[in-house]
Parts: sequence; structure tokens; C-alpha cells
Amino acid sequence: MDCAKVKCVALTFDDGPGPYTAKLLTYLDRGHAKATFFLLGQQAKHYPELVKAQAKAGMELGNHTWNHPQLSRLKKSAVNSQVDRTNKAIARASGGTKPVFLRPPYGDLLRSQRATVSMPLALWDVDTLDWKTRSTKATIKSAAAAKPGDIVLMHDIHESTVEAVPQIVKKLQAKGIHLVTLSTLMGGKVEEHIEYGAGLRPGK
Ligand code: NI
Repeated sequence: MDCAKVKCVALTFDDGPGPYTAKLLTYLDRGHAKATFFLLGQQAKHYPELVKAQAKAGMELGNHTWNHPQLSRLKKSAVNSQVDRTNKAIARASGGTKPVFLRPPYGDLLRSQRATVSMPLALWDVDTLDWKTRSTKATIKSAAAAKPGDIVLMHDIHESTVEAVPQIVKKLQAKGIHLVTLSTLMGGKVEEHIEYGAGLRPGK
């Protein structure tokens, strides 16, 4: 899929895996849609079979730290520990997949800390606020308004979000949009220490 030539959107799901993740994989598979999961290391350790299922389904696995701290409050060694432990847990659970992107919890990483993390950083363009509304209807409305090139932020730990996904997929695909992983959206050209999302694209 060449997202420089066709319309693409990246759906992303944070904070899992959790009790609704298996259902979400079924919905994505039914819609022939790919997505990116920003996993917490502690959740990956708890649900290795779901991580394996995500990788097997062709989903992208991203790092969302071990237990969701505000990285800006941590020392360099603690930031590295959060990131490295999680990469290892994801690789172990998935059978060898190494996350490409780190999404800092709350998008909170100081500019001065970027150099300490040897991964590209993923933010977002569309914040559905699904964690706040817990509304399937509101989540569909927000996510389905994504424009080509957008990264959409959601959380698969909420049932209301997972139940929104079939309609989100349907509505975006009806506009000729392909649902792809974040790496595919970025054309595979990403660099360490750079933040992607919020309008930032490779070369910009
Ligand atoms: Ni999060």
C-alpha cells in the first residue's frame, strides 16, 4: 500500500491489550483493516496470547511504556527502563516483533528527552476522547471524521470504543480510505527521535 498515492488513515489503540482486544481483532479482520496497538509492557506480559494474535493478524505493535507514567517526570535511566522493558516484553509475547514507534503516555516527553529514546515517536492528529465520553456514538463521529494522512487515537481497553470500530471502518472505507498501520502511513521512512503526528510527516 503506497499512502503517497492512495488515501490512508492509521487507527491506533492505546493502553492494552485488555479484555476487549480479541473482539476488536475480529472486527478489524472482518473489515480487512489494519491498525497499530500501543501496548503497555505490563499488559503485554499479562496477555501474551493477545499480543501474539495481534502480530499474527498483521497489526503493528508499538511501545506505550511499561505502566503509563508521565515520562517528563522521570530521569533518563527510568525512561530507558520503561522503554526497554516494554520492547522486550512485546518481543517475548509476540514471538520476536520489535516495536518501531514509542507513543509517550499523554504525549508527554520533553524535547530534551527525545535524544534518550532510540525510537521514532508517535503522537496523533485526531483525539477521539473515547476514554472521556465512553460513548460509542461520539467515538464513531470523531474517528470517522479523520482526513487522509491522519493518525486517530483510541483505547481498546474500553468496550464502548471497540463497539465503535465496525462503523468507523465502514464509514472511512466508504470515503475510499485505506486503514493501514502507522509504518505504512509513513511510507516506512521514519527516524529516531522525531515525533510523528500532529501534522508532522517525514520530510516536514
Ligand atoms: Ni495511554
